[in-house]
Amino acid sequence: MSAKTKVAILISGRGSNMRTLIQAAKQTDYPAEIIGVFSNRADAAGLEFAKAEGIATAVISQKDFDSRESFCEALDAQLEDWGTELICLAGYMRIHSDAFAQKWIGKMLNIHPSLLPSFPGLHVHQQALDAGVKISGATVHEVIPELDAGPPVLQAAVPVLDSDTAETLAARILKVEHQIYPLALKQYIEKRGNNDTAAAEQASLIWPQ
Ligand code: GRF
Repeated sequence: MSAKTKVAILISGRGSNMRTLIQAAKQTDYPAEIIGVFSNRADAAGLEFAKAEGIATAVISQKDFDSRESFCEALDAQLEDWGTELICLAGYMRIHSDAFAQKWIGKMLNIHPSLLPSFPGLHVHQQALDAGVKISGATVHEVIPELDAGPPVLQAAVPVLDSDTAETLAARILKVEHQIYPLALKQYIEKRGNNDTAAAEQASLIWPQ
């Protein structure tokens, strides 16, 4: 088997999607190896899980930098130091500098809790409720400089119920986030390697489950 792709995960908080990626990468036939977890916040809960798994962690605060550009240069240096080949954003709440986003085009994925291009940005679940949609979901997409706008890699849908609050909808969507992120990363790496075998698996992730 060919060498595993070296993946760094960027978080800002809880890190539940990060956990699913770390768990998936433990499988011997999974095509990614998680080589580091970066947070822009020292209090991100996900850091403890990563450390307990023996994964390298790094924290750099934007407060120590006077510009977005210089912060992203420090982040980039850390990623290069780890030998990063692919970045997975998982609840990472910082906007990148244009230079950083441009450099990693085609090598950076994000997960967003809506069916993009609907409801980009913040307060995503409330946006869906306010719009009155009957279906929402989650999207894993490539990252480009424009926020939440890169091409989708994989999406999964869930129903929106009349009784939903932002919290209940978020919980339903988070479950499918945890299913699609490991699968999307696998599929993305295999497609890049011209191995299309993962494509068929996508069909199993359609609502209703
Ligand atoms: C997820 O809903 C993700 O889609 C969004 O931020 C949340 C992060 O949750 N970008 P977690 O930190 O992965 O638990």
